[in-house]
Amino acid sequence: MLVGWLALNFLPIHAVPQPQYHSVRPSESTSVSIGLAKHCSKAVPISAAEFHSRQDKLAQTLHALNATAYIAEPGADALYYANLSMSSWKLSERPLLLVITPDASDSELVKAKVSILTPKFETARARLLPIAFQDVTFLEWAEEANPYEMVKPALAEADAAGTIFVDGHARHFIVDGLQSAFPTATVKSSPTEIRQLRERKSKAELELMKCANEATVLAIRETRKKMYIGIRESETSALIEAAFKGAGLKDGGCLTLFGENAALPHGSGADRKLGVHDFALLDCGASLHGYPSDVTRTFALNDSQISAEQKRIWNAVWGAQNIAFTTAEAGVVAKRIDKAARLFLSLNGLDQYFTHRLGHGIGLEGHEDPYINGGSETVLKTGHSFSDEPGVYIEGDIGVRLEDCFYIADDGQPVYLTAGVGGVATSPWEP
Ligand SMILES: *[C@@H]1O[C@H](CO)[C@@H](O)[C@H](O)[C@H]1NC(C)=O
Ligand SMILES: *[C@@H]1O[C@H](CO)[C@@H](O)[C@H](O)[C@H]1NC(C)=O
Ligand SMILES: *[C@@H]1O[C@H](CO)[C@@H](O)[C@H](O)[C@H]1NC(C)=O
Repeated sequence: MLVGWLALNFLPIHAVPQPQYHSVRPSESTSVSIGLAKHCSKAVPISAAEFHSRQDKLAQTLHALNATAYIAEPGADALYYANLSMSSWKLSERPLLLVITPDASDSELVKAKVSILTPKFETARARLLPIAFQDVTFLEWAEEANPYEMVKPALAEADAAGTIFVDGHARHFIVDGLQSAFPTATVKSSPTEIRQLRERKSKAELELMKCANEATVLAIRETRKKMYIGIRESETSALIEAAFKGAGLKDGGCLTLFGENAALPHGSGADRKLGVHDFALLDCGASLHGYPSDVTRTFALNDSQISAEQKRIWNAVWGAQNIAFTTAEAGVVAKRIDKAARLFLSLNGLDQYFTHRLGHGIGLEGHEDPYINGGSETVLKTGHSFSDEPGVYIEGDIGVRLEDCFYIADDGQPVYLTAGVGGVATSPWEP
């Protein structure tokens, strides 16, 4: 009762959603029909101009923070600023570093100065990298040299007692090496002001993310049509991987879990056959020009026999997903969104089975800062994008998770990245 009373004061209760589907199965499909194979054929990768503007924004932020430099290893941050990914340069014991420093010689407009620290014997290969910059200096370190000493020419005057920010994923020995080479400088992980540059997505990024997520929903729907009672989890995964390949998306795959296997959020390892009383849970992702999607659907086949209790649980998760979405807007503290979903499940007596956080940031990384959990003080801003993925997991019995990612649009309101193909599932038969 207490919980119910709290909920009434906390949730926009008039807006508590109820799925509007027919009691057994829909009479006609309402899904938007767009060919999966061609869905992302017109997607445009991030332009050189956008990379340059990211570098300059970083330089301006460094300048505003009185920092000397920003240094990243190949990875999501270097990919964001310079198109330098771990797939184009594998990490090894020999450092290759992206160094960006602010050039404030024109006091009106701070520009980025970009350098790459490279092993000397690999300079030719480093020059072939598809790195996006207008002008770059290669700093070479020979095998017998201390690589971090060779960063000095990039930092020029200010290296004595400045602040050097490093990408949060940089390995410890890199940070140690930099600190030893610059003993009077402060070497530390990037602060919020810098992390937010990548956390808040641009229009071009959102276009790619929308296409990847829409295609993922279409791939799940296409796969469902080919599934039958008795199909194995591995066979289902193979069907959807083929659908992703056909659509030109990379690294496509799903965690596929049937029946009680879905009660283990990250799977059981057993290759179960789909039973007539089972829900199928597919948690899928694929990447488009470096941006991964993340969509989960829990559904039944037309031939499945689904109990009233299974439907009740599905509806509760659906309601939690919707309540979380309607709670999210610019200015809201992330933990409130997690709490709204949890409170909705508690009204259905199911909150104890929602064992993980509501969502994660998504962008160049499938899971990235910031996160939506019960302790997250992050204030949502325009361009932030997150997964919204409540779940109910009753061990040995049932698992239901529904996941769509959303972003905060310029008007401060949330928009699902799957909206272009109808958005969230509308019933257990319409994923
Ligand atoms: C970024 O790198 C990819 C290959 O990883 C390449 O296809 C693309 O052209 C590069 N983008 C720019 C702007 O250089
Ligand atoms: C940067 O330095 C200027 C001048 O010394 C100072 O006014 C300003 O507060 C500093 N900014 C930061 C973020 O430390
Ligand atoms: C499932 O039922 C719906 C509604 O009757 C129908 O439109 C759809 O084609 C059916 N799907 C399969 C795979 O038979």
